Amino acid sequence: MEKKSILSGIQPSGEGIFTLGNYIGAIRNWGVMQEEYDCAYFIADLHSLTVRQDPQTLKKQSLSAFALLLACGIDPDRSLLFVQSHVRTHAELAWILNCYSQMGELSRMTQFKDKSAQHADNINAGLFTYPALMAADILLYQADLVPVGADQKQHLEFTRDVAVRFNNLYGETFKVPDAYIPKAGAKVMSLQEPTKKMSKSDENKNATVLLLDEPAVIMNKFKRAVTDSEKEVVFREGKDGINNLMTIYGVLTGKTNEEIEAEFAGKGYGDFKAAVGECVAEALRPVREEYARLIADKAYLETKIKEGAQKAEAVSWKTLRKARKRVGLLELPR
Ligand code: TYM
Repeated sequence: MEKKSILSGIQPSGEGIFTLGNYIGAIRNWGVMQEEYDCAYFIADLHSLTVRQDPQTLKKQSLSAFALLLACGIDPDRSLLFVQSHVRTHAELAWILNCYSQMGELSRMTQFKDKSAQHADNINAGLFTYPALMAADILLYQADLVPVGADQKQHLEFTRDVAVRFNNLYGETFKVPDAYIPKAGAKVMSLQEPTKKMSKSDENKNATVLLLDEPAVIMNKFKRAVTDSEKEVVFREGKDGINNLMTIYGVLTGKTNEEIEAEFAGKGYGDFKAAVGECVAEALRPVREEYARLIADKAYLETKIKEGAQKAEAVSWKTLRKARKRVGLLELPR
């Protein structure tokens, strides 16, 4: 039986590149899924342009992001791994899909609303049509499943709607993908304001754990994590800070909430926070070490980046060609 196919992407922007939220909600599962699925993963650098970037920093972070995905266990000889902007088919299909996306549905996207509020001085058209580019990323590879955190669910629904709309108009062209959202850890919260998502762009540095943070920094961030005025480590509505720490600890140790509650019965929040910090620092240690090794090997990274781009171009062109024909674009005579 043919393996099911997986596709997912991540933006290279933001200080320190990836967060513990990115890791727990998405990347951690990407490596594991290589066993069972045909996987494609990419650095979504075109998406990052929707927010003003420093050009030198973006370039540097894209390379670092590529190395970091390898360090997180993505095997470029088994999975397709590439940088989005190296594969021209993405921007081209995005244009076509833009013409099948409605202003109304795009204006309902919560990410658009949030980012417009955050960047009121730069509400650009790219920010608005972002979901059409994301739909192109996914549909080009005929993905069955898209492993993402909960914040991307609405974009996935949009992708499905566009795919169905296009297929209804022109006949089967795109596979209609399903979101694959983890049961635990789909929304890791800020350590400082635990009702808010942990995010790369948080101004409070203590709110976000970065994959490349040193162990001492990680320990310190967890030590300062905001909790509540009670004493018990129990998972309960209203205890957002503790719930978040329990989720992180549970995902990384495989322990259930009951087991965690028993482990810390009679102990204070201080002990619990230290245990979570230690467990995160340990989980990220191999990633940090492997990253340091890889980022020093520029020649290897460049080879893999080139190979990825070529393979992705070949795979995605098949779908783009079909879509071009469907809508009536004249083929280039050979
Ligand atoms: P991005 O770069 O914001 O995030 C990458 C992945 O990490 C997940 N994530 C989280 N999960 C749990 N808790 C958090 N606090 C947290 N923060 C982020 C995101 O859900 C995501 O899975 N638009 C996408 C990138 C993209 C993409 C695609 C993804 C572009 N094209 C095609 C899938 C398929 C984004 O900005 O993700």
